[in-house]
Amino acid sequence: MSERTLSIVKPDGVEKNLVGEVIRRFEKAGLRVVALKMTRLDERGAAGFYAVHRERPFFGSLVAFMTSGPIVPMVIEGEGAIGKVRQLMGATDPAKAESGTLRRDFADSVERNIVHGSDGPDTARFEIGYFFSALEIPPR
Ligand code: RTP
Ligand code: MG
Repeated sequence: MSERTLSIVKPDGVEKNLVGEVIRRFEKAGLRVVALKMTRLDERGAAGFYAVHRERPFFGSLVAFMTSGPIVPMVIEGEGAIGKVRQLMGATDPAKAESGTLRRDFADSVERNIVHGSDGPDTARFEIGYFFSALEIPPR
């Protein structure tokens, strides 16, 4: 089934000049970028995006990291896009990520892991709406 998901090149990925590499891997896997921007989160924006993690010990550090520089959120579309993007990213901890995944190849740590991908249809809907207005997303 064709799906849409939200991916983000995180501040470390932008700093490492990996915007093109992340997109290239998505495109090579048959996925399509249908919306994209560069922006920067403030504290409220990052805390709202990661609200499900607000009780976790790493939350403060995660918010500091996500506000540390520009990010590139994008809407990715294609057959099984949610799972495919997660697969291309690899596990949260790069040391545990399969070889050939973005995180294994480029990430420094479990926190600084260069890329985000929605983990299910409900989060995808919420996260796409968090960064893109209806007018910025093509009709299906
Ligand atoms: P994401 O949401 O960013 O795509 O990553 P994920 O699903 O693989 O991982 P998740 O459990 O949702 O965690 C969100 C982000 O929080 C940071 N984190 N730090 N220090 C830690 O133990 C820890 N655990 C998670 C990472 O930046 C992770 O991507
Ligand atoms: Mg997650």
